[in-house]
Amino acid sequence: MTTPTVVPGVLADPLLAVRRLTKYFPVQEGLFGRARGQVKAVDGVSLDVGHGETLGVVGESGCGKTTLGRAILRLVEPTSGDIRFDGVDVRALRGRALRTMRRSMQIIFQDPFSSLNPRMTIGATVREGLTVHRIAEGEAADRRVRQLLEEVGLRGEYASRYPHEFSGGQRQRVGIARALAVEPRFIVCDEPVSALDVSVQAQVINLLRDLQRDRGLAYLFIAHDLSVVEHMANRVAVMYLGRIVEFASSEALYREPLMPYTQALLSAVPVPDPVTKRQRIVLAGDVPSPANPPPGCVFHPRCHHPARDAACAAIVPPLEEKAPGHWVACIKQPPTAVPWDVQRQAGATHEPLRHLPVLAPQA
Ligand SMILES: Nc1ncnc2c1ncn2[C@@H]1O[C@H](COP(=O)(O)OP(=O)(O)OP(=O)(O)O)[C@@H](O)[C@H]1O
Ligand code: SF4
Ligand SMILES: [Mg+2]
Repeated sequence: MTTPTVVPGVLADPLLAVRRLTKYFPVQEGLFGRARGQVKAVDGVSLDVGHGETLGVVGESGCGKTTLGRAILRLVEPTSGDIRFDGVDVRALRGRALRTMRRSMQIIFQDPFSSLNPRMTIGATVREGLTVHRIAEGEAADRRVRQLLEEVGLRGEYASRYPHEFSGGQRQRVGIARALAVEPRFIVCDEPVSALDVSVQAQVINLLRDLQRDRGLAYLFIAHDLSVVEHMANRVAVMYLGRIVEFASSEALYREPLMPYTQALLSAVPVPDPVTKRQRIVLAGDVPSPANPPPGCVFHPRCHHPARDAACAAIVPPLEEKAPGHWVACIKQPPTAVPWDVQRQAGATHEPLRHLPVLAPQA
């Protein structure tokens, strides 16, 4: 029997539609040893991204965010699943067709220090896509490079300089210019500001927002800090150990986070109002190894929900729509389609109970 694919927040006319995407890496014994198991870095992710939309993806380090972004662009080959971009089956593309598709789907990398070739001038870096995709050559390409640098807030004459002459924020602007050069419609922004000083983060975020507005770009915006996506994303997917565990509009997610994992992440986000303080939920321990995930709810060893019990270690919580447009994978947060007698058979001692320790401060 095949289980139906749950797509949180399905759209009628998505730009990008991802279904049941998985990426498993083999775990090797020794340097050349045989595969000893699998790291399920992305484990059955389904989502839609709308035209001109920003979909936020958040989660702690190691949750599979980068792998998800790279698998969508086929920078790593997915293990299974479907990816459709503007109706085109991305996984079926080969050779030139794949290169052409790459024009439309770009990435801005997590680390602006290692993502630029130190031996190439920034002009050559930005120009590369123009040449590969035959967008412009010769003087026209030089002009376009200068224009792109100016568009991201750098000076045109910087084109002849090398990456080491620039700060992290400036390098990230070069990374943005490189992505924009090929006129994409969709960009995976992989933690584009997490390596930058706080003062520079807002500038780069504002630049990305302006570019989105002017060019109608869609973003998959990855962050491990919820405060960064709050102002950026229309809708947010929270990932834990390769899966989506909560999905909602950013407004609903911040107002009423239902998944205990999201509650813990959100409790760490500072509230601007100095009078209101959020109760801090400390996440015990690290993210478990995706090579050996816990049984049942993968979050159960770290969960603070008062109704958490033996059933949590036995039942894999389905991603359920608990309120319109608000999807959560938790059998203890009502309503749930996992009946109480099924939970009891799995050792449950606590009935589902609405638990909301982290409410948005009232205005
Ligand atoms: N090439 C690879 N080979 C083996 N395992 C990998 C590979 N790339 C990623 N992984 C593993 O997959 C899991 C997810 O990694 P990924 O980089 O996608 O996480 P992330 O959420 O982006 O983390 P971070 O916030 O630190 O960037 C991790 O356990 C990681 O060790
Ligand atoms: S299913 Fe159980 S362990 Fe998992 S988040 Fe809900 S209460 Fe916590
Ligand atoms: Mg990453």
